[in-house]
Amino acid sequence: MSSTLDPVIDVEYEQPDALHGDGAVCATHHAWARVPPEPAAAERLALKEKIRQLLKQKNAVMVSHYYVHPDLQDLAEETGGLVSDSLEMARFGRDHPATTLVVSGVRFMGETAKILSPHKQILMPDLDATCSLDLGCPVEDFSAFCDAHPDRSVVVYANTSAAVKARSDWLVTSSCALDIVRALKEKGQKVLWAPDKHLGGYIERETGADMLMWNGSCIVHDEFKAFELEQLIKSHPKAKVLVHPESPAAVVALADAVGSTSGILKAARELDATEFIVATDKGMMHKLRTLNPGKTFIEAPTAGNSATCKSCAHCPWMAMNSLAGVAHVLETGANEVLVDPQLIPRARVPIDRMLAFTAALKAGQPTAGLVPHIGAA
Ligand code: 13P
Ligand code: SF4
Repeated sequence: MSSTLDPVIDVEYEQPDALHGDGAVCATHHAWARVPPEPAAAERLALKEKIRQLLKQKNAVMVSHYYVHPDLQDLAEETGGLVSDSLEMARFGRDHPATTLVVSGVRFMGETAKILSPHKQILMPDLDATCSLDLGCPVEDFSAFCDAHPDRSVVVYANTSAAVKARSDWLVTSSCALDIVRALKEKGQKVLWAPDKHLGGYIERETGADMLMWNGSCIVHDEFKAFELEQLIKSHPKAKVLVHPESPAAVVALADAVGSTSGILKAARELDATEFIVATDKGMMHKLRTLNPGKTFIEAPTAGNSATCKSCAHCPWMAMNSLAGVAHVLETGANEVLVDPQLIPRARVPIDRMLAFTAALKAGQPTAGLVPHIGAA
C-alpha cells in the first residue's frame, strides 16, 4: 500500500454482471479510488514552487498523462518534462537523462517506465492509481487463455500489469495498435488480444485481422452513449466528433476521427471545424482548449435514456494524482514503483518491439523485418 494523503474520498466501483457475456473472462468486481482535495490558491502556488526546486535538486523530471489535473500537465511542460499519450510517455521516460521520473498517470505507466529504465527511480503520486483494464486481466487467467491458443500472436494493450506484458509478444497503445495488428495480419498471423474489447473490436473492424478477444473495458469510455450522442450531433450539425477507441462500437461509428489522446489532439488541430464533440476522459479538455483557442469543445454524453448512471467521464484513478502527491514523493522518495526484477527482461521484449516498430514507422523505414514469427520471444 502506498503512503496516503488526507483527506480522501473513496469511489466505489462494481462491474455489473451483465458485462460478463458468453465466454467472458473478466475479474474486475470491485475497485476504488481516492481523490485529493483541490488546494487553496496560496497552497497551490507554494506546492508548484516546491516541486520546481525539488525537481532540480533530485535530478528529476515530470511525465504526465493528458487525463491528469491541468496543474500536473502544465508544470510538467514548464519544467522540461512531458505531457502526452501513453506511447510517448514510455519513450520519453526511457530516453530522458534524469535519474528520477515522476509519473502522473496510472500504475501501468509507472511500471512501463521502470521496465524500460530499471536503473532509474520511478515515483508516482499514488501507487494505488490503477485502471479497470489492468484490474480485469489477472495474469493467471490471462496465461491460461494464452496457453489454450498457442497458434496466435499475443498482443496486449499497454494498460496491463508487468506480468501480463511478460506473457505477451507485442505491446500496443491506441496510437499504434492499428499499424501493428495490420503488420501481423500481413504476415498471416492470428491475434490473441487483451484486455480492451472495444479497442480490440475497432482494430478488428479496421484491419480485418483474425482476433480472439479478452472481455475487458474502460469504466470511463464504456459510459459514452450512442443514442444521446446522435441527439447532440443533431443539435450541433457543424460539429466534428472525436472519439477514443476505448468507447463502444456504436459511439465509434459516429466519429469523424477515432484516435488515441494524441490522435484526438491532432484531429482537433487539423479538421476543418470550429466546434467538436469529444468522447474521451474530460482531463483531455485542458489541452484541447489551451491549444485551440477560438474552437469549442463539448463533452460527449454519458447519461440519458440508455444510461444506468451518470458518469462524470473522468477516470477516478487519474484523479488520484495531485500537486501535493508530486511534492510529497519528491521530498520523501515515497511511492517508488518497483517491478519484480525477474519479470523485467521478458516484459521489456514486447515494449521494445512496439517502440522499435513505431520509431521505424515514423522515420519512414520498412517495418516488415520487425515482425517476428509467433513464439519467437
Ligand atoms: P492513450 O494511450 O490514448 O493516452 O490512452 C491511455 C488511456 O488510459 C486511455 O484511457
Ligand atoms: Fe484505465 Fe480507462 Fe482510466 Fe484509461 S481512463 S486509465 S483505460 S480506467
